[in-house]
Amino acid sequence: MKLLVCGGAGFIGSAFVRVRLAAGDEVVVLDKLTYAGRRENLQDLEIEFVHGAIEDPDAVAKAIDGAEAVVNFAAETHVDRSIAEPDAFVRTHALGTYVLLEAIRERRVRYVQVSTDEVYGSIEEGSFTESSPLAPSSPYSATKAGADLLVAGYVHTYGMEACICRGSNNYGPRQYPEKLIPLMVLNALHGDPLPVYGDGMNVRNWIYVDDFARGIGTVLERGVPGEAYNVGGPDEAPNIEVVKRIIELTGADESLIEYVTDRPGHDRRYSLASEKVRALGWEAQVRFADGIGRTVEWYRDNAWWWEPIRSGDYRAYYERHYGRALG
Ligand SMILES: NC(=O)c1ccc[n+]([C@@H]2O[C@H](COP(=O)([O-])OP(=O)(O)OC[C@H]3O[C@@H](n4cnc5c(N)ncnc54)[C@H](O)[C@@H]3O)[C@@H](O)[C@H]2O)c1
Repeated sequence: MKLLVCGGAGFIGSAFVRVRLAAGDEVVVLDKLTYAGRRENLQDLEIEFVHGAIEDPDAVAKAIDGAEAVVNFAAETHVDRSIAEPDAFVRTHALGTYVLLEAIRERRVRYVQVSTDEVYGSIEEGSFTESSPLAPSSPYSATKAGADLLVAGYVHTYGMEACICRGSNNYGPRQYPEKLIPLMVLNALHGDPLPVYGDGMNVRNWIYVDDFARGIGTVLERGVPGEAYNVGGPDEAPNIEVVKRIIELTGADESLIEYVTDRPGHDRRYSLASEKVRALGWEAQVRFADGIGRTVEWYRDNAWWWEPIRSGDYRAYYERHYGRALG
């Protein structure tokens, strides 16, 4: 199948491209290459690359030519940045998704919108199903929820072949170091303080990135048009436990942990029920205990990937955000 992967130069999109190339698909990537999108993530892969934004109809028309399906990963993805500077989130998630939907409506190609557990908001106990109400709590999750509703509205109105795939917290190779796990791994490897929000008891449902990529592939191939599918990880853990595990794996010292002022509106717990995607034949293959070891090892072995980030704009972002410099 010829696939257009929007946002394919990012963390999850590039993992998805790898999975689909291995399965024999032909892949075109459309990516704006924001700070989080990197050509390095697609290094050595045989793809066609179109540099452009999903909110640009000309770039989309060029990239979509001949595609049989479109999977949209393109997004601004950091909640902290959405609190400080929400405009890009509205542009990419609302306008960008609209432009893509118009393009696929004309061409009648299959579409998967990649979304997040954060659209449901926080849950103290139990798990969200696909029919749980959307109750987003940050500009990131609110604009992602808006994009999901736009997709649902287009399916209902125009009868398009579109599905939504909502993942839980991903981790694995090539994740930009502003996110919890790569942030802690790289800071631990450098002996920098490990900034933990609030009391560290925010619970996340962790999924290894290749498992999510396979889940999205399952929905692309077998999902029922108009349906949403949760793809949750097999294990949940409070942030502080994740940080302590990273300390063990990197041989860092626990005294590096530094509790910092919590993120405003920080959701306490996310949890997804994934029976619906399991019924399509998907199952998570990587448990957290194994995946976190693989992830630490990847960052340890691939300094060429993160060194340019840690010595570039990210330093200034980090200093602005945490009020202290990286070592
Ligand atoms: N990371 C997670 O834990 C997680 C969990 C569930 C769902 N998701 C969703 O998965 C998708 C991918 O997330 P990620 O973690 O790989 O993000 P990422 O930030 O690593 O990558 C996002 C990619 O989108 C590109 N992009 C951004 N704006 C664009 C635009 N306007 N036009 C074209 N390209 C654009 C960036 O250049 C980058 O390559 C997002 O939609 C996100 O909401 C992420």
